[in-house]
Amino acid sequence: MVTIAVTSESADEPRVAVSPDTVKKFTGLGAKVRVESGAGLRSRFSDEAYRAAGAETVGRAEALAGADILLKVRRPSIDELTALKPGAIVAGMIDPFGDREALDALAATGTTVFSMEFMPRISRAQSMDVLSSQANLAGYKAVVDGAAMFGQALPMMMTPAGTVPAARAFIMGVGVAGLQAIATARRLGAQVTATDVRPATKEQVQSLGAKFIAVEDDEFKQAQTAAGYAKPMSAEYQAKQAELIANHIKTQDIVITTALIPGRPAPKLITRAMIESMKPGSVIVDLAAERGGNTELTEPGKTAETPNGVKIYAPLNLAGTIAVNASSLYAKNLLAFLDTMIDKKEKTLAVNWDDDLIKGTLIAKDGRIVHPNLATKSP
Ligand code: NAI
Repeated sequence: MVTIAVTSESADEPRVAVSPDTVKKFTGLGAKVRVESGAGLRSRFSDEAYRAAGAETVGRAEALAGADILLKVRRPSIDELTALKPGAIVAGMIDPFGDREALDALAATGTTVFSMEFMPRISRAQSMDVLSSQANLAGYKAVVDGAAMFGQALPMMMTPAGTVPAARAFIMGVGVAGLQAIATARRLGAQVTATDVRPATKEQVQSLGAKFIAVEDDEFKQAQTAAGYAKPMSAEYQAKQAELIANHIKTQDIVITTALIPGRPAPKLITRAMIESMKPGSVIVDLAAERGGNTELTEPGKTAETPNGVKIYAPLNLAGTIAVNASSLYAKNLLAFLDTMIDKKEKTLAVNWDDDLIKGTLIAKDGRIVHPNLATKSP
């Protein structure tokens, strides 16, 4: 029988790696799930709910002892790994480009580590795509939080007492988070514009009823990599883009920034001067904060406010602020991935090491870092 351990996350991570729903499915697959008591509380999953779904709720040490698999939201500690069965499997958002020394130490325990952020973006793996499931919720929450901070109405309202104008929302970066931000801002009645460097986004923006603005030159036409991500843009393009944004942003009330390039610091799209040109009370929500942010004034994890009254909110874990939904979807992502590794008939672990999903996400095995993207140590 396969034993799956789930432990509490750190104080700043409210999410949890299994839901009562996925516990039930794992149990159905013939696995035994041991959840650390209280691990689900911040996602509103009680121990009783886990037990009703078939899990054991136990102390941390008991959950880990000799388990075959450990499921995490964030990187586990060395202590957690050494408590597992030798060579056990760990899956979570390992932050593969973060603290390399600590990552090497995790690998040295001999644990088989899967980093969910590296899930290939192919159709078979859509149900396992944690970046999408979490970014989608973050895009939604960015608009809701931004609207609350803005402190003015978003929709146009024509009343006998006069007309309330529609607020203007500008979404920068139209990946998964940006698309959901556009849809949410539209639902709240804002007038929405959006920008990106990938040409494919133009139609997506328009199909959501928003206006697309961008520097659409020859470089723009080539800005998407084969993997579907943005390339870093040239200094010349950035200058043209900055001019366009500088003119547009002055009139905006809520700006949501989500622009990222894989494995690099977030591009700085909004300068101090641009922010100072905005109206008092305007709000920027910077979803790229974890990678340094898209504005020059971003303070990751904080809300900065300029003397002219513009707020720059830079949350580090927005999906975690709607932990019930984020944990439910994340847990489903893990379930779909683990499902490929469990032999349903024999009820044993049966990892297909040649599977693209396994090869894509496997970062450490037999005491070493094995992923090609991590071959060279980051500075
Ligand atoms: P991301 O989080 O890496 O970046 C967010 C957005 O920022 C992207 O749209 C990117 O083009 C944009 N950006 C980067 N530099 C910029 C700049 N200088 N100015 C303006 N915008 C800039 O992207 P995410 O959300 O991970 O999506 C990346 C791609 O993956 C998209 O094409 C998406 O449709 C695709 N995707 C495919 C999936 C699948 O097939 N299973 C699942 C999810 C996403």
